[in-house]
Amino acid sequence: MGDRYTRFAPFYNLLSGEYPIYHSGRVLGITALASGNGQQVLDIGCGTGLNFALLQQSVGASGTIIGIDRSAAMLHQARRRVENHRWDNVILLQADMALTDPETLSTRIQEAGGSALSGAALATYSLSLMNDWQRAWKTMTALLDTHGRVCVVDMADPLGGARWLTPLARLACALGGSNIHAAPWRALEEQCADVVRGSARAGHLQIRSGTTLPLHNE
Ligand SMILES: C[S@@+](CC[C@H](N)C(=O)[O-])C[C@H]1O[C@@H](n2cnc3c(N)ncnc32)[C@H](O)[C@@H]1O
Repeated sequence: MGDRYTRFAPFYNLLSGEYPIYHSGRVLGITALASGNGQQVLDIGCGTGLNFALLQQSVGASGTIIGIDRSAAMLHQARRRVENHRWDNVILLQADMALTDPETLSTRIQEAGGSALSGAALATYSLSLMNDWQRAWKTMTALLDTHGRVCVVDMADPLGGARWLTPLARLACALGGSNIHAAPWRALEEQCADVVRGSARAGHLQIRSGTTLPLHNE
């Protein structure tokens, strides 16, 4: 099957609903991730790199951003962003997070100039697109240092007075290929310490951050 993001990539930044809706989730998520200056941070399913500017503010010029996505077309857009900003601390890798084992990915990161393990990892609006998001989560956390920081930002049905927007939210997710019922932040809640819960846009955006425990991969 042709990946919808291959055709959609050149228009993603315009059509993904970034400023009316999704930008607030990434701001909250990256703030909650609290990655430190000089750290290496993984951006899982990085798409066109909409997180990169905010991540640069956290990790600084001495830090490294590793953007991983399975779509060459989305990575092409991400590469253009990196070149336009002249960021020399971003590594982009094409890999399917649900199919690539952590050892292979770690080797590829090192071959591209990064470190074997990262201090932080983030997945914004990406795990719910992956059929086997549990495996992607496992791989993502296996690439972290002990006590690594992790954050998941993903989508759910709106709540309260905004419930009438549920069909619209579900349609937007279906068009983007994501499963609005996946709730991939459950893994973070179960497996991390210091879990912080947040939401935005009447619950449509769910934000979780935490710290991985020493035995998180066993
Ligand atoms: C909705 S976009 C989100 C992109 C970006 N994280 C953002 O916040 O704008 C989902 C991205 O996940 C990527 N993706 C989907 N399944 C994937 C997988 N199994 N492995 C790696 N990337 C994947 C898609 O190619 C797409 O770029």
